[in-house]
Amino acid sequence: MIRPVLKMGDARLTRRAREVEAFNTPELAALVADMEETMRALDGAGLAAPQIGVGLRVVVFGFDSNPRYPEAGSVPYTVLVNPTLTPLSGEIEEGWEGCLSLPGLRGAVPRWRHLRYEGFDPRGNRIDRTVEGFHARVVQHETDHLDGVLYPMRMKDLTRFGFTDALFPDPPG
Ligand code: NI
Repeated sequence: MIRPVLKMGDARLTRRAREVEAFNTPELAALVADMEETMRALDGAGLAAPQIGVGLRVVVFGFDSNPRYPEAGSVPYTVLVNPTLTPLSGEIEEGWEGCLSLPGLRGAVPRWRHLRYEGFDPRGNRIDRTVEGFHARVVQHETDHLDGVLYPMRMKDLTRFGFTDALFPDPPG
């Protein structure tokens, strides 16, 4: 079922989400199915459970190609429960992000370039990956939602925050 996505300003987006304690349950499978359907319907690169009003540490992300991020390459479709992130170098990279909770807006956000992430899939199998670039960016963005953090809170230069159609006008001709 496609669920409504909460918008920035909703207090439910600013809370810390709870760890999932029971894996391989119908409730968790139904939540993940709704998140995947909602993300795909809106062409999102990812979605976190708090964005549909569920305060659990569950994120989904991934795409083969995404019209909202044509430069991004592909990121494997992943359901990640109770994630922990470990930056693998001090290297920080700024890149453009959007969010389904801030429709129509983009901002340049500094993120760790190299990252290890760990967690579980919905059945309770361990996930442990080392990634970089846009994949690392998406994981940081989605995991931030679990701690009540939206991308503008990470920005250093608010002159690089605005409406997508004003930031990136179509080239003339
Ligand atoms: Ni988001």
